[in-house]
Amino acid sequence: MNDLQKKTVISALMILAMAVLVPVYWLREPARQEAAATRIKHEAATRGAEFFLSNCSLCHGRTGDLLPGRNLRQTQMDEAALAKVISRGRPGTGMPAFGAEDGGMLKKFEIGELTTFLLNWDQSLIESAAAHLPPAAAAPISTPSPPPLPTATPKPVVTPKPGPATTIPGPTPTTRPTAPPTATEKPFTPAATKPAPAATPPAPTAAGDIQRGRTVYASLGCAACHGAEGQGGIGPALKGKDAASVKSAIRSGKGTMPAFSPAQLTDADLDNIIAFLASLK
Ligand code: HEC
Ligand code: HEC
Repeated sequence: MNDLQKKTVISALMILAMAVLVPVYWLREPARQEAAATRIKHEAATRGAEFFLSNCSLCHGRTGDLLPGRNLRQTQMDEAALAKVISRGRPGTGMPAFGAEDGGMLKKFEIGELTTFLLNWDQSLIESAAAHLPPAAAAPISTPSPPPLPTATPKPVVTPKPGPATTIPGPTPTTRPTAPPTATEKPFTPAATKPAPAATPPAPTAAGDIQRGRTVYASLGCAACHGAEGQGGIGPALKGKDAASVKSAIRSGKGTMPAFSPAQLTDADLDNIIAFLASLK
């Protein structure tokens, strides 16, 4: 082969290679785009899970099924319906409005991240958010005997910032101010669950455990609707109600109030709630 022939052969090979590679590249492009879309979706769902843990799990539970008949983990609602409820809330119920346009704190894209999470529920995202968010953001899991709510011990949410300052040798002020929660950690405190003025410790009654009643009352969402001290809110004030009407409202539901079955609330805990309500002055 002379020089010219060699060059011709090389050019021909290059053209051939291009002819093969370019279509391969184009064929792979949708797959690449799909992978990128999956990654973006995963990131959105991860942030959505963090929002859910800090803003929603108080009422809906960490597993999304604390409110009877409103299992968010297996919601049948579509994206638009979810976004609407989250943004506007459900007036007349315990569901607050979260949309910035409705006086809430979540921007449209943040609500989008929430709906992405809700429609692709992945419990491990909640658990990993719980592992790195401050403990106060982590609401109880919906188990028959829930642990005390964070609202029972109202402490400000502060995250000590592990900064370089702590590693510098020498005199470090012991009372360093702690960092405020970051933007992704906006814990939502429904007005109804604000710390109540310290009441004189009520005497235990034979019928039920008042302290336990208070805990169950808070963790089942009663406090969210009826106020932490039963003072009323979305639902009526519960002071001075007789045990029989409390029982029937809880077991059968009433108006917009959901019913609580013995699986969700044992008879013993129902008595504890009644004891707690009876202790309210
Ligand atoms: C203070 C308590 C409370 C908080 C906090 C709360 N919710 Fe709700 N939510 C409710 C109640 C109560 C209902 C049921 C309303 C009704 O009776 O229709 C509800 C209903 C819903 C529904 C409709 C479910 C259905 O099947 O009808 C969605 C979706 C929802 N909430 C999502 C959220 C999300 C997401 C958050 C956090 C951004 C959140 N909620 C925070 C109390 C709350
Ligand atoms: C989603 C909000 C919501 C939740 C959660 C909720 N309630 Fe209610 N509750 C209401 C509303 C609203 C009413 C009034 C219903 C009506 O009369 O139409 C009501 C009524 C009642 C009544 C009857 C009051 C009366 O005047 O007879 C009792 C008692 C009661 N609730 C106790 C509880 C307890 C205890 C819990 C928790 C186990 C609870 N509620 C959870 C909203 C709620």
